[in-house]
Amino acid sequence: MGLEFADRIGRIPVYPAADGYALSESVALLASNEAPFAPLPEVVAAAAEAARTAHRYPDPGASGLRAAVAKKTGVSVDQIATGNGSCDVLLALGEALLQPGRELVYAWPAFSMYPQLSATTGATDVQVPLDADDRHDLKALAAAVTPETRLLLICNPNNPTSTLVPIAEVEELLQSVGDSVCVVLDEAYREFVTSEEPDATLELLSRYPNLVILRTFSKVYGLAALRVGYGLCGDATLRTAVDQVRQPFFCNASAQAAAIEALSHGDEVDRRVALMVDERERLSTGLEALGCQVAQSQANFLWVRLPDGADEKETVAGLSARDILVRAGTALGGAGHLRITVGLPEQHERLLTALAELLPQR
Ligand SMILES: Cc1ncc(COP(=O)(O)O)c(C=O)c1O
Repeated sequence: MGLEFADRIGRIPVYPAADGYALSESVALLASNEAPFAPLPEVVAAAAEAARTAHRYPDPGASGLRAAVAKKTGVSVDQIATGNGSCDVLLALGEALLQPGRELVYAWPAFSMYPQLSATTGATDVQVPLDADDRHDLKALAAAVTPETRLLLICNPNNPTSTLVPIAEVEELLQSVGDSVCVVLDEAYREFVTSEEPDATLELLSRYPNLVILRTFSKVYGLAALRVGYGLCGDATLRTAVDQVRQPFFCNASAQAAAIEALSHGDEVDRRVALMVDERERLSTGLEALGCQVAQSQANFLWVRLPDGADEKETVAGLSARDILVRAGTALGGAGHLRITVGLPEQHERLLTALAELLPQR
């Protein structure tokens, strides 16, 4: 008869993993919104030093990392949850707040992990379309909340569309949904925001105990492979709940050490952000000159609508044949689009030259 898996397994979507693992360094990896820069030598050294005592379990309370995050953000240590990437904290929030009969509300397309929260917990999924400018429609999201809603997710800037909803609109939503719904601001790309102060949202935490802000070391800090992120909780009870549903050692020792070290190099982070933001503008202009429509990006990637007559699949395959990996929009909920990570100038030149060959002549 064989094994019988739990019903919910069938509902869990398969994560649309990008290609690009075990490829040569000459391939331009513009598919996973990673940093194009390696971590600083001091950060690598901190991770290696921690590995010297890898026969011991890591600090389950991640006390050093939480203290460093508290110093950077001004949020109290007991409101800071760390995790095996910010996804770990996100999934734990789902476990802690959702169950059959309860509702999860989020915009779509957004981060491809979100449907997993309802699938694993048996909660009802409520997806709200983006507006005509590929932005979250916060009024429609607020209107979708019912007495059964326990969790509302806002991806800001949104993956895959790169757009930002300003803090004033976020606060309006927080006021309208009330304090019985946990609102998660997924800010994996917040450091790349230039239209408002990147840390402006942190002050909302003191007014909204139902708010959680997720941040990660996978993007601007360049530590995607180590898996480390954190959640800033409006109230310590949320932090306790996400810790309760996880196994005790959810953040490995090298990741904790590397993240602490990375936080002490703020100037270098700012320098890298400035370079990425310049490249974001240059790439966007280059793509528009080829007839693409590019959403207003506040992240380290672009959401690109291909010109009429272009075929998404063929374009992705043509780029791949030229050693350039980008993401096809269909798998991310947006047919006719590409999601392109901002990389290095040389990679962009190759990409634009290749697209000039692949896209219909204007
Ligand atoms: C919106 C968003 N949130 C969270 C994550 C995951 O971050 P982490 O690597 O910290 O789990 C990603 C990664 O691509 C993302 O796009």
